[in-house]
Amino acid sequence: MEETPQHTPVLLERTLELLAPGIERIAATGIVPVLIDGTLGLGGHSEAMLSRFPDARLVGIDRDTSALELSRARLAPFGDRFIGVHAVYDEIGEIAAEHAPDGVAGILLDLGVSSMQLDLAERGFAYSKDAPLDMRMDTTRGITAAEIIAEYSEFELRRIFQEYGEEKLAGRYARKIVQRRAERPFTRSADFVQLIADATPAAVQRAGHPAKRVFQALRIEVNGELAALEAAVPAALDSLAIGGRIVVLAYQSLEDRIVKQELQRRSSSTAPAGLPVELPEHRPEFSLLVRGAGRATEQEMAENPRATPVRLRAAERLRIPERGSERRSDSRSDSRPDARSTDSARGRRPARPPRPERAS
Ligand SMILES: C[S@@+](CC[C@H](N)C(=O)[O-])C[C@H]1O[C@@H](n2cnc3c(N)ncnc32)[C@H](O)[C@@H]1O
Repeated sequence: MEETPQHTPVLLERTLELLAPGIERIAATGIVPVLIDGTLGLGGHSEAMLSRFPDARLVGIDRDTSALELSRARLAPFGDRFIGVHAVYDEIGEIAAEHAPDGVAGILLDLGVSSMQLDLAERGFAYSKDAPLDMRMDTTRGITAAEIIAEYSEFELRRIFQEYGEEKLAGRYARKIVQRRAERPFTRSADFVQLIADATPAAVQRAGHPAKRVFQALRIEVNGELAALEAAVPAALDSLAIGGRIVVLAYQSLEDRIVKQELQRRSSSTAPAGLPVELPEHRPEFSLLVRGAGRATEQEMAENPRATPVRLRAAERLRIPERGSERRSDSRSDSRPDARSTDSARGRRPARPPRPERAS
């Protein structure tokens, strides 16, 4: 019998605690709070959110159709409180405008791959399992790792290993790959991993597998992960209602840096230095909810090793800039200049329920 894929949600209780005030605040205005889980995966966090916040509806986004299918089955008992959307999370602005026109109450981004994706050998994410070199989260489109390894120039391979893998031996690996593929193409991961291992001098064999950083780099390139995140974080922040909250869980430093920088930027005053009084339009748009980055406890790390590298960052929306004064284009601020007044003007009118699923 086939095993049911598993994924233990990381920092689950902390995530729920951080999101709760945003949902309660919006529910208190009479508007149905809408949560967006931008990385639905197997729906572990989403299931907990739907159970903990019975007034809320939840839109779950995933680019992986298998994950979406499994989550839909898992979350079916919540009926139309759950909507699954097949999309890349950088489309969060449009998805929020469609399903939460009054602003989103809470957003979760639990970045990276799921345990299911790592466990299913045929997806090619794990260097420890021989498989076709695929690594696409969305297997319905896009370039595979095998195509990158076969087609990218030595220069491009070195660049992605350096930038996305922070790999010191990037140049050496790129050269060896190009030499080897001229004789015989790589199709499976075991063959590729062996080349990386052979190209790693014994003197620099460090703790951890020599192919770890190269696999991370290929996965990031295959899925355009950093570009998607760079677009998604500002769009997610723009889509929050006042009092709405975002929680982001990152598992590697490149992703965490993008999240940290954007949250810090949007949580800082823009008042020019020396101005005696901070004008309302210079006030920070967000407030950081966690000092530094939240980490898993020793106990959680022991129970779920995937939680070991996690960095949690979270923020609450304080205000929505007036039209024309925003730091970046905020399409929603055109129609709702200030959600504080918008909330009271709208009184206790219930929000339009989210529309049914738009993609499968
Ligand atoms: C760490 S898992 C989420 C696990 C989930 N929180 C749970 O409890 O089951 C990350 C999920 O996000 C998806 N994902 C990663 N990057 C994405 C992107 N740019 N757009 C949409 N989904 C993405 C992956 O396919 C994966 O299913």
